[in-house]
Amino acid sequence: MSVKNQFSFNAKNYENYSFIQKKVAENLINKTTSKPGSILDLGCGTGSLYNSINWPVDDFYAVDFSKEMLQIHARNKGVKCIVGDFNDSMLFDKLRQYKINRIFSSSSLQWAKNLDATFKHIKNLDAPISFAIFTANTFKTVFETAKIPPLLRTTEEVTSLANKYFNAHYETINYKLSFISTLDMFRYIKKSGVSGARNILDYKNMKDLIKNYPIDYLEFEVLFITE
Ligand SMILES: C[S@@+](CC[C@H](N)C(=O)[O-])C[C@H]1O[C@@H](n2cnc3c(N)ncnc32)[C@H](O)[C@@H]1O
Repeated sequence: MSVKNQFSFNAKNYENYSFIQKKVAENLINKTTSKPGSILDLGCGTGSLYNSINWPVDDFYAVDFSKEMLQIHARNKGVKCIVGDFNDSMLFDKLRQYKINRIFSSSSLQWAKNLDATFKHIKNLDAPISFAIFTANTFKTVFETAKIPPLLRTTEEVTSLANKYFNAHYETINYKLSFISTLDMFRYIKKSGVSGARNILDYKNMKDLIKNYPIDYLEFEVLFITE
C-alpha cells in the first residue's frame, strides 16, 4: 500500500493512534519563540499542529496529500485546507502566492521521496522553518529483532541534507510508548501509519517477532530542526 493510501485508509483511526505525534507537535510549538500570524503546515494530517497553537493566527495553510486526513482537520476562520504533495514541485508553485511567516512540518517529512528536492522547494518559499522528522532509530528494537534494515533516514543523513539549505538548530529527542501486550504494539504500528508504504514483515516473520520482541515499548527517534 502506498504512503498516501495507508494514511487515507487509517484516517479515522489516526486520532486514537497518534499519541506520539501529538507530543511531537506540542514540542515543536513549544520550541517556537516567535508567534507567526501566517503559517504553512506540510503534511498537516488531522491537525495535531494546528490544535497545539496557543496564539491567534490569521492564516493557516494546511497541506496534505490525503483528502481523508485533511477532511478531519479543523476548519476555523483563517484555515485553508490544500490537497497537495510535497514531493511535487507544482505544490510549491502554488504556495508561492501566499505570504507565509513560518513553515512547520511535524512527523511528515520522513516520507519525502527525495528529501533534498523537498528541502530545496521549501527553502525557495523564503520563510523560517520548524520541522520534526522521524529518523532511523524509530522502532529500533523491532528492526534489530527482525534482522531487517531501518525504514527511515538516519539523523546524520537528514542533518547533512538540511544543512545545505537552512541555518538551523538540531535536537534529537527519543520517545518510548509502552504497551500492555506485544500484539497491541504491532496493531499500533499498523494503524498509526508510521510504517509507511512498507509492510514490515510477512505473517510468519511477524508471528516470530511478536514472540521474540524483548521489551514492552516502542522506540521513536525524532529530529527537531528549527530556525
Ligand atoms: C504521521 S502523519 C502526521 C500528521 C500531523 N502532522 C501530525 O503531527 O499528527 C503524516 C502525514 O503526512 C502526510 N504525507 C505523507 N507524505 C506526504 C506528501 N508527499 N505530501 C503531503 N502530505 C504527505 C500523510 O498523509 C499524513 O497525514
